[in-house]
Amino acid sequence: MAFLFHHCSLFFLLFAFNLCLCFIPSVAELQRFKHPVKADGTLSFLVVGDWGRRGLYNQSQVALQMGVVGEKVEIEFVISTGDNFYEDGLTGVDDPAFNESFISIYTPPSLHKQWYNVLGNHDYRGDVAAQLSPILTKMDSRWLCRRSFILNTDFTEIFFVDTTPFVDEYFTDPKDHTYDWKGVLPREQYLSNLLKDVDTALRDSTAKWKIVVGHHTIKSAGHHGVTKELEHHLLPILEANNVDMYINGHDHCLEHISSTESQIQFLTSGGGSKAWRGDIEKWNPEELKLYYDGQGFMTVQMTQTTADIVFYDVFGNVLHKWSMSKDLDAAA
Ligand SMILES: *[C@@H]1O[C@H](CO)[C@@H](O)[C@H](O)[C@H]1NC(C)=O
Ligand SMILES: *[C@@H]1O[C@H](CO)[C@@H](O)[C@H](O)[C@H]1NC(C)=O
Repeated sequence: MAFLFHHCSLFFLLFAFNLCLCFIPSVAELQRFKHPVKADGTLSFLVVGDWGRRGLYNQSQVALQMGVVGEKVEIEFVISTGDNFYEDGLTGVDDPAFNESFISIYTPPSLHKQWYNVLGNHDYRGDVAAQLSPILTKMDSRWLCRRSFILNTDFTEIFFVDTTPFVDEYFTDPKDHTYDWKGVLPREQYLSNLLKDVDTALRDSTAKWKIVVGHHTIKSAGHHGVTKELEHHLLPILEANNVDMYINGHDHCLEHISSTESQIQFLTSGGGSKAWRGDIEKWNPEELKLYYDGQGFMTVQMTQTTADIVFYDVFGNVLHKWSMSKDLDAAA
């Protein structure tokens, strides 16, 4: 009897140990990708967000202008700030939306570059694993989507952060939506590991420029406004580590807030399809450099010492420009 009991508890211990190994998100470092800069040592990329609507709501028109501008500034890659497929992400790797909202929309040659994608809250309403799957990359080699990862270029490091799991409301008051939290639970542990990983990676970075990308806003005068959870948990890490830009989507607009409290530029590129016209809250006019409630996208052109941000509307017209510079020998 005693032997049996002993045997069972040993079995239970082994079982529990295995559970830990399998189901608790690891504290391993964030996955890293490398992207070379151009031969002349410059870097250009385009940012679009909140887009996948089978071409509707001007998605196709925005895509066309992305192609024109992408060719002009010779982009190296495209960043998607999430909400890749409306309304409820992908149903699986065989969802025709991947073709109808991505492959057959972003057809111009200049957009046939690597796409670095994060997930938005609408993507979490579908099959998350499908968007992360190498099967999509096999269907279209441009596609690369991860929850959180780091992109290294020569002098710029871009940190992609999975922001949806930070938002309390999706857990406490999901309304009629269901979210695919596989791989995110237990939530507290997922978030604390992620914050630790981002903080460590930012602290260890020797890049000239540090850019952080997430779906949700930190500062925004748009419909969704400030994401309190990110303001509380992520922003202090960005401020402590001298991040230059935070780029997001979620609010369906184009927006630039230049913080008066830190050097961080807050850039919203969420105008990939359906825009929220007339939806704006009060914001300090000293900080709010652009708020455009129509469709469009953004480009970033960088050298070791300069960064130029340009916002474009659905016709490819320039809405707003902003330039930053730093000394060549300044500490990173
Ligand atoms: C498409 O863009 C044009 C120009 O901004 C705008 O007038 C029109 O309302 C947009 N259509 C939709 C469906 O958003
Ligand atoms: C992809 O979508 C386009 C346009 O929606 C359609 O013409 C084409 O047949 C689709 N291709 C596949 C492989 O489903």
